[in-house]
Order: sequence, then structure tokens, then C-alpha cells
Amino acid sequence: MGSNAHEIGVIGTGIMGAGVAEVAAAAGFSVIVKGRSQASADAALAIIEKSMARQVKKEKRTADEATALLSRVRCTTSYDELATANIVIESVAENMEIKREIFAELDRVCAPDTVLATNTSTLPVAELAFATSRPGQVCGIHFFNPATLMELVEVVVPDATTEETVVRATAFVTDCGKTPVRVKDEAGFVVNALLFPYLNNAVRMADAGTASAAGIDIAMQGGCNMPMGPLALLDLIGLDTAVSILGTLAKAFAEPNYEPVPLLTKMVDNGHLGRKSGQGFFNYGD
Ligand SMILES: NC(=O)c1ccc[n+]([C@@H]2O[C@H](COP(=O)([O-])OP(=O)(O)OC[C@H]3O[C@@H](n4cnc5c(N)ncnc54)[C@H](O)[C@@H]3O)[C@@H](O)[C@H]2O)c1
Repeated sequence: MGSNAHEIGVIGTGIMGAGVAEVAAAAGFSVIVKGRSQASADAALAIIEKSMARQVKKEKRTADEATALLSRVRCTTSYDELATANIVIESVAENMEIKREIFAELDRVCAPDTVLATNTSTLPVAELAFATSRPGQVCGIHFFNPATLMELVEVVVPDATTEETVVRATAFVTDCGKTPVRVKDEAGFVVNALLFPYLNNAVRMADAGTASAAGIDIAMQGGCNMPMGPLALLDLIGLDTAVSILGTLAKAFAEPNYEPVPLLTKMVDNGHLGRKSGQGFFNYGD
């Protein structure tokens, strides 16, 4: 493979951690998924197993291919097992303090030539780079949700990142069958900086009662040919993640359109996080 990588570490077992692990395993890499607990690591594996069962049923993969893919994924709760990974992609909650601690730990355990990447949506990658002793080997590898389906990956490049790191990260993205776009380390990179004011305004509109949540989504799908309405997209992203992203963008750009609309924050406070909690702008109960 162009990246010369064979083992990929993934930190985080949520929506994106499981998705990135599946993408890398599907591309033929050995994948180690690090969870905080055995239960969360097992849950990530269960998500990938469910995805395989679905793909076999839809005849997108043979049963043998699914078994082979699953055999390339193993789970751990120990950082030490990441020592042999060529590239590690951190994909835990969008919180700088948590991520900084993880990067310091990765710096301690990973081989000197391991590339340390983050899947952050908006946080400054440079800050994570300087939590390590190898800022030249840190970059963003920003997948989109769902990682298995979305073609784009932003390769986020802080000033300190070496060209060799960019080449290795970009080759990994291409090996995964995705389209890389190189982006400067600016809050929100390209996609989220443009997308989130739109999503935030859709919440404002729902709150004002301009149309129902379903009506707003139907309008944007039918009127702008969007594959998904803005409120269903927020439910898919996770409303807690969306609030974190908007908070970072608001700080970076001092622009009122990025300030999370109070309704969004209130929904998070009430535990309505979107699909992952079963309730957001829409209900995902059984
Ligand atoms: N959801 C999206 O649409 C999306 C898209 C692209 C990138 N991202 C980014 O991916 C990252 C993960 O997002 P997600 O949607 O998978 O979130 P999620 O809520 O589904 O999962 C978060 C993960 O972080 C772990 N975590 C939380 N606190 C932790 C701690 N203190 N220490 C270690 N692990 C901890 C959780 O156990 C879980 O595995 C974030 O940086 C997010 O911005 C999200």
C-alpha cells in the first residue's frame, strides 16, 4: 500500500471510532481499537460485526470477506498495545483536555516513527501536536460521518507538521479508498466551517416555529436537493458533538452565527443527543 503502513490504532469506540476502524480493516490494515473499558471496546466490535452482517445480507460483501475483515480488528484497553502501530487515529469526545492527555500518552507508548493523528472536527491540531515531543508527526485525519460511506477525508496540516507526515497520512487516506483534501489547521477546516452556521440556523428556525422539524428537513431536501435535512444531520452527528464544534467555531471566529442556539444546548442538557441517545429532533426508538 502507498502508505507503507500495516497496523492502524484507533482510540475511541463511539460513532467515529468504530467507523474508522471498519474503513481501515476493509482496506486491509490490521486495526487495534483502544477503548476506555472492555465493554466499550466490545461495543465497537459489535457495531462492526453488525455492519458486516448487514453488508453480507445486502450482498455487498461475501461471508468470507466479512470474516476476514473482522479477523483484522482487535480490541484492547491498554495503550501499550499501540506500540507497533504505524498510524494512530484518536477519535474520542470533542474535548481538548481529554485529547491532550491521550496525545501525551500516545507519545509515550508509540514507536518513534508512528504518525499520531486526530479525527477532531474543529479543535486546533497544533495544540495536540505540542502535547507530544514529536509535533512534526502529528496531523488531522478528519473522516466524515458515516465514515464507511463518506468519500472525503480532510488531512489537516498544522505549521509544524513535516511533509513526510502529510505524505504518509494522505497515502493512508487513499489506501482507504477515500478522497483526501489538504487543509490548513483553521477551526472547522473547510467542511464544518461552512456547514455549521447552516445547521445552527436550522435549529434557530425550528425554535422560532417557522416550520416543523420535519418541514424544515423536507424543505431543504426538496428545495436544495440535500440528501438529508439539517436537523436529521444534526441527530446523526450527535447534538453534544455539534455544541462542542459550534463552541470552538464561535471562539475562533467571534461570529454570532456560530454561537450554539440555546435550544441545542438545552436538548443536550436534557440528554437528547440525537440518534445515539434515541431522541434528538426526531425519535429513534424501536
Ligand atoms: N459525530 C460526527 O459526525 C463526527 C464526524 C467527524 C469527526 N467527529 C469527531 O470524532 C470524534 C469522536 O466523535 P464521535 O461522534 O465518535 O463521539 P461519540 O460520542 O460517539 O464517542 C466518543 C468516544 O469518546 C470516548 N471518551 C469520552 N470521554 C473520554 C475520556 N475522558 N477518555 C477517553 N475516551 C473518552 C467515549 O468512550 C467514546 O468512545 C470527535 O473529535 C468528533 O468531533 C465526529
